[in-house]
Amino acid sequence: MTLHTEFFDIHPTNHFWVDIYHLMNSIVQPRPIAWISSVSETGRFNLAPFSYFNICSMNPAIISNSIFFNRDGSEKDTLKNIKATGKYVVGTVSFQAAEKANASSAPYDSNVSEFDEAKVQPILRGHGEPPFISESPVQLECELNQTIPLGQGAGVGTLVLGNVRNIHLSTQLKDSEWQKGIAPEFMGNVGRMGEDFYTKTSDVFRMPRATVDK
Ligand SMILES: Cc1cc2nc3c(=O)[nH]c(=O)nc-3n(C[C@H](O)[C@H](O)[C@H](O)COP(=O)(O)O)c2cc1C
Repeated sequence: MTLHTEFFDIHPTNHFWVDIYHLMNSIVQPRPIAWISSVSETGRFNLAPFSYFNICSMNPAIISNSIFFNRDGSEKDTLKNIKATGKYVVGTVSFQAAEKANASSAPYDSNVSEFDEAKVQPILRGHGEPPFISESPVQLECELNQTIPLGQGAGVGTLVLGNVRNIHLSTQLKDSEWQKGIAPEFMGNVGRMGEDFYTKTSDVFRMPRATVDK
């Protein structure tokens, strides 16, 4: 095993934020990807992937996403929609769906639905409800808890906390012991890394949680 005993320092504020962005993305990895379905006040469906994504609380169940401003300083459609309607759905991204998830990240105008552009079938749920994502075996139905703005402009994130109101599992999991979790090979999730690297989750290993001998 290589041990690292000497380091050189990079102070984020002394560098262009895009350089820090690339560096940090290659350090904090692999990241899970939230495929977020939202709907505008006028009923336009929106779909985009977000990898600054995690669990914040289980009781109550709360998840976090950080949504950055566009490089021109404007708000992303997903954030606009979540703020306007307070609702969104998070789907997972498997290896089979990775190309479509990436396709849905292209900077389309607000009046274009990424469901159409990425050829993802929306599962309709009624007026004003963000659709489910047919490519995802799990849909987390979320209600906005709060947005925490971390500043304004390019490179700045807005932290979005959402209460998970309902966890919708594919009926393919109906006879599974979901209380123990879903098998990783069923999920087949991909992780986001630095540059345009992704990782599959097929190379898993088990390691029981460490305990203290009494
Ligand atoms: C795999 C992947 C992960 C991404 N993660 C984030 C993220 O966590 N935060 C963010 O602001 N943008 C992220 N993006 C970029 C958004 O998907 C992109 O800006 C998208 O156009 C936003 O769409 P919208 O304007 O319809 O909301 C990611 C893109 C990809 C391909």
